[in-house]
Amino acid sequence: MVFYFSATGNSLWVAQYISNAFNEPLCEVSGFIRKHSAEGLKYTLRDEAEMLFFVFPVHSWGPALVMLHFIRELQLSGLKGNCVFAIGTCGDDCGYTDRIVRKELADKCIPLEAFFSLKMPNNYILMRGFGVDPEPVKDEKLAMAPSSMEQIVKAINTRSYSESQILRTGMSWLKSYVVYPVFKRFVIGRQSFRSTDACISCGLCAKVCPTGMIVMQNGKPVWQGRDCVQCTACIHRCPAKAIEFGKVSVGKGRYVHPVLAGK
Ligand SMILES: Cc1cc2nc3c(=O)[nH]c(=O)nc-3n(C[C@H](O)[C@H](O)[C@H](O)COP(=O)(O)O)c2cc1C
Repeated sequence: MVFYFSATGNSLWVAQYISNAFNEPLCEVSGFIRKHSAEGLKYTLRDEAEMLFFVFPVHSWGPALVMLHFIRELQLSGLKGNCVFAIGTCGDDCGYTDRIVRKELADKCIPLEAFFSLKMPNNYILMRGFGVDPEPVKDEKLAMAPSSMEQIVKAINTRSYSESQILRTGMSWLKSYVVYPVFKRFVIGRQSFRSTDACISCGLCAKVCPTGMIVMQNGKPVWQGRDCVQCTACIHRCPAKAIEFGKVSVGKGRYVHPVLAGK
């Protein structure tokens, strides 16, 4: 099974690649959480040959909150030496996301065989100084992705893993064990999203919000509650570019992976 979360399509593309390479089905976790949270997030492995993958974006040098929540709540049964892998997509630096995920899984007695990271176009635009990649950088990352995935598949098939495959640019401890907890505690839940006059009332933002916190009122989106995980799905996927995050996103580019074109 390939459990995945993706806001702007990068991790979806990776999940699909892995699903094809290892002939494992796909499961989108925010939908799974919404559908099954009442009775518990239960999953039983088919047999010992089933491979388990967790694919997600790196957010603030840790796993995206939707995936963290999913891993914490997952009630996995039938684990008999199955191979478990995690893949984090990131703009260029995942810090110690691998260590965080390995520990979360270990706490549930799920041993992680290996973690991989993949450099993909950046989608973080919610803070001053951060924006999407310039067009040539984005194109280069997308062009490199298939060969990087080939290497990941080869590493899995040959069981040859290397720490050097994990993207880190320094100060990983500070980023993942100081900044990530601050992000979870103080940034998550707060949001300044708003729709502009360009809104065409299509409702896509409400549909793609992984925590279901956007509701359409009088044809316009309203962000309610404190469940925003800052994944940026709403702001990037709006077909009319009619969503802003306070003033900080004004004038910045938007990004969606081609796998989501027209969706
Ligand atoms: C809230 C947030 C935090 C992010 N933090 C990081 C980060 O710490 N390091 C990094 O390289 N990229 C970071 N990014 C960029 C994403 O990890 C990257 O664009 C990812 O591939 C998006 O995946 P998706 O399209 O599946 O959502 C962040 C993006 C968001 C929205």
